[in-house]
Amino acid sequence: MNEKNVDFGFRRVKKTKKPALVNGIFSGVAGKYDLMNDIMSVGIHRVWKDLMLDWIAPKSGQILLDVAGGTGDVAMRFIDRCKGDAHAIVADFTEEMIFFGKTRSQEYQYRSKLDWLCADAMNLPVSDEMCDIYTISFGLRNVTDLEVSLGEAYRVLRQGGRIMILEFSTPKDRNIQWLYDKYSFDIIPFMGKLVAKDSESYQYLVESIRKFPKQDELADKIKTAGFRNVKFRNLSMGIVALHSGWKI
Ligand SMILES: C[S@@+](CC[C@H](N)C(=O)[O-])C[C@H]1O[C@@H](n2cnc3c(N)ncnc32)[C@H](O)[C@@H]1O
Repeated sequence: MNEKNVDFGFRRVKKTKKPALVNGIFSGVAGKYDLMNDIMSVGIHRVWKDLMLDWIAPKSGQILLDVAGGTGDVAMRFIDRCKGDAHAIVADFTEEMIFFGKTRSQEYQYRSKLDWLCADAMNLPVSDEMCDIYTISFGLRNVTDLEVSLGEAYRVLRQGGRIMILEFSTPKDRNIQWLYDKYSFDIIPFMGKLVAKDSESYQYLVESIRKFPKQDELADKIKTAGFRNVKFRNLSMGIVALHSGWKI
């Protein structure tokens, strides 16, 4: 295998070129990102994110770093759940996603509790052990080097802190997988064309899901990065999985 080439959907591209390609995808779809999420998942991404927050069970005073946080869905849910003293930082390397996130979060209760950082998951410009919880939702499959990103997650979490990953995964049932493939490859790029005027980006998104490690493989990678008590839960029959690990 050529070490300098990585997956970009079903294509292989030079490792150095991938960040700009991914960035280009999300800059292009940023304005329609939230709407497309609701349409493509028939609103179910909201339930998946709520289940992620249920498992985290945020506590007042905690600091969340939500990496590849996009328009801030997870961070805003975290602040809502913390009630009292909460702080969340959304780190994302696409300025346009941050722009639309900031616009959405103008409501009073988020203003003093939410910061936005334009940064790459593989090289976060924050100090060691600065957060209690690190989340990455539908972001990890886009990074150029998964191991480096998990290493950064470990670095920025305090001792006793927790990583939580929400990502598309692999259904066990072959009939579900067949249906899911049909929906992903035949319908999603078509809807991307219709709503966001961009089928290619949505083609990449579905391809990148198929290239992402399966539940057990991802759990192993999280353990290798140093996390302990690593567990995962399948959501929607394994179409999506939630992985949790602790820095202890
Ligand atoms: C599918 S969106 C998910 C957004 C949000 N977390 C959510 O669940 O709705 C993926 C996000 O990851 C960001 N992203 C991709 N690669 C990244 C990287 N290496 N570092 C930081 N952000 C990245 C993109 O800019 C995009 O906003």
